Amino acid sequence: MSPENLPSPASQPNHGRSFRRLRVSLRAHGPIRTGLFVLSTIVISLIVFASFLSPTDSLWRRPSDWYGLLQKGPFVSNPKYPYPPTPPHAPTPAIPTGASRPSPSPSPSPPSDILTLEQIRDIVTPTKGFFSRDFSLGLGWNNMRYILDAAVLQAELLNRTLVVPSFVYARACEYNITVCADYATMVNKNDAIGWEEWRKLPYEQQMGFRIPISIMLDLPLLRQKYPVITASEYLRLHGQDPESESSSGFWPREQYIARPNVFQSNKTRTPTQFIIENHWYDPSGTHRVDYIPQEMKDRGKWGRHPGTKIGETAGSFAPEEPTDVSNRLTSALPDGKFIMDWDTAKTALRAAGLGTEVDLNNDDVVERTLNIHGWEVLRSFQSVIGMDYAKTIVNPINEVVHRSTIRGFKDDYHHVDADVVILAGETHLFRKPGAMRFTVESSRAKYASMVVHSLGSPPKVTALAKVLAARIRKINGGRLWMGAHMRRGDFARLGWVMEQNPEAHIRRVKDRLQAGRTVLARLSNLATYDVEGAKPDMEQLKLHPPLPDDKFFVATDERDPEALRVISEAGAIFLSELLTIEDRRSFGWPLMITDVRALVEQALLVRSAFFYGHGMSSLSGVIINMRAARGADPRTMLLD
Ligand SMILES: *[C@@H]1O[C@H](CO)[C@@H](O)[C@H](O)[C@H]1NC(C)=O
Ligand SMILES: *[C@@H]1O[C@H](CO)[C@@H](O)[C@H](O)[C@H]1NC(C)=O
Ligand SMILES: *[C@@H]1O[C@H](CO)[C@@H](O)[C@H](O)[C@H]1NC(C)=O
Repeated sequence: MSPENLPSPASQPNHGRSFRRLRVSLRAHGPIRTGLFVLSTIVISLIVFASFLSPTDSLWRRPSDWYGLLQKGPFVSNPKYPYPPTPPHAPTPAIPTGASRPSPSPSPSPPSDILTLEQIRDIVTPTKGFFSRDFSLGLGWNNMRYILDAAVLQAELLNRTLVVPSFVYARACEYNITVCADYATMVNKNDAIGWEEWRKLPYEQQMGFRIPISIMLDLPLLRQKYPVITASEYLRLHGQDPESESSSGFWPREQYIARPNVFQSNKTRTPTQFIIENHWYDPSGTHRVDYIPQEMKDRGKWGRHPGTKIGETAGSFAPEEPTDVSNRLTSALPDGKFIMDWDTAKTALRAAGLGTEVDLNNDDVVERTLNIHGWEVLRSFQSVIGMDYAKTIVNPINEVVHRSTIRGFKDDYHHVDADVVILAGETHLFRKPGAMRFTVESSRAKYASMVVHSLGSPPKVTALAKVLAARIRKINGGRLWMGAHMRRGDFARLGWVMEQNPEAHIRRVKDRLQAGRTVLARLSNLATYDVEGAKPDMEQLKLHPPLPDDKFFVATDERDPEALRVISEAGAIFLSELLTIEDRRSFGWPLMITDVRALVEQALLVRSAFFYGHGMSSLSGVIINMRAARGADPRTMLLD
């Protein structure tokens, strides 16, 4: 295949560094824990920084320290922000999280797969107990999804049942919000989440809709391989009211362990709990990995800390006198970083004069050489345009770190015997997919496979996308069709879109799709990304490539009629044009919710012959991952 058609990360500006600086500058505020004044200072500086640094999802993501401040905020049962907050319009009772209640919609959308207490117990029994964390329910769905990906991995490493929120917040309604409020509990997001970031927006934008997580995620699919229960199931298992579930996603430290498991015969034995403090997770200068293999422990003489107290780490490598080669590697580390890419490490070895003694073109030899000098190879995934926003899992990379910086999640916390283990705060921003790196290639591949094969959209979404894909193909005379994601909405309001005006933006999209058409016309030897189960999609060769004037699909949150007209006149078709009355009826009320529509748009773009999206968008990142799994050729997708 011809590499010139591939997105070239190397040629992209590396914004990663500036974002790291941002993180560092926020860290400096870490110890300060008092006063709203400080909080608002950080809020303002983040907004200033974020808009200065151009397009990001970053208002939705927060560095852990900030989150730490927020934890003390009005998360749960603050009398000032009662939950549920009183919706200004006739409130609908919460969608059943535990009890059943007739569904108001033409189709029963919240799946009625309510587990019995015995079924919940049977999920938990083969594991050591529960793992959960503070979920940031204020984030959009795709970021929540990435956090869930990582949480499934973290729970598995600890041999525990993962507890996920039973609901998420959708951000917008396709119609007047009063319409959606008749079908899903409308909440003021500020009150429900405990953040203030929407407070100054127009009323409509302060409101969100509480919807069951099963509308966004195929829970039965996830449960086929991983022990997962919802927080409302956890509460029922412990004799608590499922309606008392935390509204913010924060794990209430005392309330959730106040009652014994209903199967516990000793009625005074309430669950024990262990908190993994946020600042233990990956403090600066360390690298969190899944686990430390025995050979690595042997090489570095890893030993457990004496005593039984469980804290930041369970053990460490023995101190070593650095060799000259090791010093050479240390000085090759990029400024302020403790990790280098593979080529940098090789160059350093060559500069140390090793090129004559050992074969530096042989990766195994390079790795062994690094190991001898106290360094290790970690496995992860290539960032998109130098940043870890899109969290794609399609391009594996190797990176090099000093052994002493490695911290194994399993090594540190698997031996904890508390019933409940909680990871405190946020570990999402600036992290690699999985929120950790991997020590062996097979674990990385297994993680990638889990992301695309076990965390999927509900079957209803996939089925609708399939129908719509056929409809677009028909519009285009049966040819292959292309699509793009144009994020505008809040991005445009904040000046974060790739192109401010719709004319320039659609011109850019058409330009990329034009290149895509050439790719499709020239495809001959199909390739796939190296993701488990990916088989080349032969349709890419069987169907005719698009013609220059073919319609293309655009997923967008743009709702301004004038902007939509401009985009449409350029040849775009939108979801709203593709949907029929029958589609809407059979899908049911969730299709009125913008976030659910975005899920359908996403599933549709997974099926396009060529896809172009935003390099900083988590929605686009998921599309890339899912395309890889369906066997789309790597040349048929572009993020920039
Ligand atoms: C997980 O924990 C359960 C319960 O303690 C135990 O029976 C099982 O063997 C463990 N599984 C693994 C893979 O360690
Ligand atoms: C939504 O509907 C309500 C009630 O009918 C109305 O008062 C309000 O103005 C509408 N909002 C918008 C943005 O049209
Ligand atoms: C019941 O549990 C409590 C708390 O763990 C413990 O102190 C007590 O000894 C237990 N009673 C019995 C009969 O095991």
